[in-house]
Amino acid sequence: MNINGQHFHTIWAEAGNYNIIRVIDQQKLPFEFNIKTLKTFSDAKEAISKMTVRGAPLIGVTAAYGIFLALLNYQNDKPLPVYLKEMCDDMKTTRPTAVNLAYAVDIIYRHLKNETDVKRMTNRAFNKAEELKHLEIDYCNAIGEHGLPLIEQIARQKPGKPVNILTHCNAGWLASIDWGTALAPVYKAHLNGIPVHVWVDETRPRNQGSRLTAFELQQQGVPFTVIPDNTGGHLMQHGKVDMVLVGSDRTTRTGDVCNKIGTYLKALAAFDNGVPFYVALPSSSIDFSIANGLTEIPIEERNFEEVQFIEGKGGKVQVTPDDCPIANYGFDVTPARLVAGLITERGICEATEKEISNLFPNEKRRLH
Ligand code: MRU
Repeated sequence: MNINGQHFHTIWAEAGNYNIIRVIDQQKLPFEFNIKTLKTFSDAKEAISKMTVRGAPLIGVTAAYGIFLALLNYQNDKPLPVYLKEMCDDMKTTRPTAVNLAYAVDIIYRHLKNETDVKRMTNRAFNKAEELKHLEIDYCNAIGEHGLPLIEQIARQKPGKPVNILTHCNAGWLASIDWGTALAPVYKAHLNGIPVHVWVDETRPRNQGSRLTAFELQQQGVPFTVIPDNTGGHLMQHGKVDMVLVGSDRTTRTGDVCNKIGTYLKALAAFDNGVPFYVALPSSSIDFSIANGLTEIPIEERNFEEVQFIEGKGGKVQVTPDDCPIANYGFDVTPARLVAGLITERGICEATEKEISNLFPNEKRRLH
């Protein structure tokens, strides 16, 4: 996707010096566009925990490059297998909810664990991180292709009028590497000349909607309107939303969807108003090992300051009294029964164990 007409991925290895990994810094967007350099394992961990990079697919790919950077800086102070295991375990603790992180680290660990030579292991880690990155791009592209007919179908029912899509948080290309998950079908529809309009939930406390989704839609020329988080229900009651389309940080094998806090309330409102609620996600966001989203998905609780202050152009301002009790849950779970369908890289399925395993039969080995 483009920023000021120039094509970017959210993460890349420096051409000519693969030991340097660059990422778009999402902390100051849309007010400042900065590129950050990751040279060490700690740089990668910090980029994930401080949300320089965020969004499930991007977190996973950054973690993979982080293991590569750990090996690049191996000091020989402990046996290589011990070091590799420690780095992988440590990386997995960085953010708890998005399963893509553990998924990517597990893949890279399994790929490297029998390698004995550090140079070869480092090269293989780099190649695997690159492979995971390109897989995520392919997944998002395919999600876009599979989701496009849903938008086309609605467009046919209201000729000449835009299809109104409500989204929450940022599940666009900034959250992945390119295209995005929830926004990939929107971009494909826009590129195919279908009139679309996106209702963008601001998504407090970090405002990924009003800052990041608005930024990327604006950059691609897709019509949108930012709305306060509590507006969606009202719009749905008045027929102003044709579909809800969100991403996911972790979806169970039974179709329970964990996504940014507030997603569940949109699903309830959609259900009450007969608005289809779709979730777009790559298989790297499906946790085939769990069945119950409410009890088995760890929900990240973040720093209270994200709620106490609001950050925008020009800085931070406090929006609560001093010394105020604050809770800051990062995610919630939408039960499968509220989900109209899952849009994956292999096609659309119902949010049920049967349909998910039909689409991903090879993942059966990871069940239970
Ligand atoms: O806390 P964040 O910004 O990493 O949360 C991101 C989301 O909740 C996205 O909706 C989710 O990762 C799906 S994105 C491809």
